[in-house]
Amino acid sequence: MVRETELRASDLILPLFVEPGKGIRRQVASMPGVFNHSVDTLIDEARRAQDLGIPALLLFGIPGQKDAVGSEGYHEEGIVPTALRALREAVPEMVLVADVCLCEYTDHGQCGILRAGDVDNDRTIPLLAEAASTYAKAGADIVAPSDMMDGRVAAIRERLARDGLGSTSIMSYAAKYASAFYGPFRDAAQSAPKEGDRRGYQMDPANGREALRMVRRDLEEGADMVMVKPALAYLDIVRQVRDVVDVPVAAYSVSGEYAMIEAAAANGWIDGPRAVVEALTSIKRAGADLIISYHAAVAAKALAGRR
Ligand code: PBG
Repeated sequence: MVRETELRASDLILPLFVEPGKGIRRQVASMPGVFNHSVDTLIDEARRAQDLGIPALLLFGIPGQKDAVGSEGYHEEGIVPTALRALREAVPEMVLVADVCLCEYTDHGQCGILRAGDVDNDRTIPLLAEAASTYAKAGADIVAPSDMMDGRVAAIRERLARDGLGSTSIMSYAAKYASAFYGPFRDAAQSAPKEGDRRGYQMDPANGREALRMVRRDLEEGADMVMVKPALAYLDIVRQVRDVVDVPVAAYSVSGEYAMIEAAAANGWIDGPRAVVEALTSIKRAGADLIISYHAAVAAKALAGRR
């Protein structure tokens, strides 16, 4: 009765990776328990999540072909739109969130089109808007731009309105830090930059006020929800954002957070499921309404008293 924070399966969003092919369920080396799926096995995974009471999925695509401009990221026959159409049909009640970014689709691994080695913001933005519109048409309820480029939320908002997709929500990765904790994700998505890093468009971990500025900027541009990422090392940011906005706040417990718990648990150094529930409860206590976690299924089982 006096417990202040209650983590529920319905708070959770499960990220999933999809690639072209059939019957694929390949474990990500640095993320035991997380898999690269083809659309058929993705659907099985989505059904399992739904049975555990997890209401939403966040989809990342790994294309068959990468090129300099990330073409498969915004093509309607690309892997994410294909997966979205299949999921819409197979699990109609599930909330489908599509990550919008070019880093998985470019052969250089940067989040946009390059000019003289740097990401060209102005040429990248229309492609992100194109991707968002394609995903919305394919059945995404929420598009989640994860690149942190200036002006992309406004461009996506405008494009969705123009294409008659005004009811699609935008969840912006508003406060996204240039973090070492994304390492395993870049394995899973095969999206590590070939050269350089993402510090030109992601935030310095030392900055807190800047996060609030980015959140306000994205809300002014038309975001419906904002995200803080990573989560555990940034709980103060989650709390501060929660205190100043009226929209839902999401926190992304990223791949490195998953890998740390898994590695320690595999060695018998900590109790994995207990650590998962504690970590995710802390993220909720800090103020997150929505929690994105690769541990969503583990947490949902633990919360239901199952292992
Ligand atoms: C970019 C993106 C990244 C993550 C989510 N979206 C990688 C990056 O910015 O390098 C990281 C998620 C994680 O580490 O779990 N499309």
